[in-house]
Amino acid sequence: MNEDLSILISELREQVLYLQELGVTSLNADLPEIKVQSPKSKIQNPKSEFVVPDIPIIQKTEPQKVENPQSSIRNSNSPLLSRLPKLSEVSAQKDFPTPIQPRVEVMPKKPVEISPTETLFGDISQTLPESNETLADIKAEIGPDCTRCTLCEKRTQVVNSVGKPTAKLMFIGEAPGADEDAKGEPFVGRAGQLLNKIIEAIGMKREDVFIGNVNRCRPPQNRQPLPDEVVHCKPFLLREIAIVRPKVIVVLGNTACQNLLDTKVGITKLRGNFQDYFGVKVMPTFHPAYLLRDPSKKRETWEDMKNVRDYLNSLE
Ligand code: URA
Ligand code: URA
Repeated sequence: MNEDLSILISELREQVLYLQELGVTSLNADLPEIKVQSPKSKIQNPKSEFVVPDIPIIQKTEPQKVENPQSSIRNSNSPLLSRLPKLSEVSAQKDFPTPIQPRVEVMPKKPVEISPTETLFGDISQTLPESNETLADIKAEIGPDCTRCTLCEKRTQVVNSVGKPTAKLMFIGEAPGADEDAKGEPFVGRAGQLLNKIIEAIGMKREDVFIGNVNRCRPPQNRQPLPDEVVHCKPFLLREIAIVRPKVIVVLGNTACQNLLDTKVGITKLRGNFQDYFGVKVMPTFHPAYLLRDPSKKRETWEDMKNVRDYLNSLE
């Protein structure tokens, strides 16, 4: 097929998919599928219930170099393309979410105000310290009967981190809820089910990643863990990070984000922009429990996860 036509159809499909992501349901992308495959792209994007698109996602040729995520197709004067609604028209329609803000940099520089100052490892090191311990050592040191903080009084059991000891991707949540407290495993309740979908949406499986929480015992009424509870438990998580040495840490929600990055800046401000934790990229995004309460925010988390996927692919 004529190469120009292939590119045109590719871009057209991309436009339709983008509109569908925004919630437009009256269009379909039933065009010949032409994948412009990045040579580096290893992690595929399978169909997922996590986000609405029930169709394969086109891989951009070089995602890192896209300066404006609003595809050039939207500025095109082609008569074929002029039949598509303009983004501005679409977003003006009632009940449509605001269009994704163009992000100039796929991986923006960390904001200057984020500077880990009081972490376990001090504030000078730019890379994770070497670790000569194992995940089992840490679990043993915590012990099944930990009484370092008062959360022990109401918990059923300590909920330790789970996952692949060499995972490239790590997720950090807040603290166990009722289901986790009963089962002894993080993220196994409704929020956990959604987290599994989020992981699958970027072509990975729960077993491929590492999952932990800032605190390992369930706070009464699922309240946020207090500073004097965090101070006892967080160091174990930081030591696990130094053992696993992931390439990306996704911090889920305010508690995880603020405690890992030692910042008071809120998740709504930080989400979507890679931060740094001793040389490890940190992607703040919404907590799945929050997404269950406000499903319209799933689209932002999907954007964040695509950036995580693209960054992991770029390392292959
Ligand atoms: N919410 C969390 O933050 N962690 C869990 O393990 C479960 C729900
Ligand atoms: N507040 C949180 O703690 N987490 C979210 O994801 C959103 C708001």
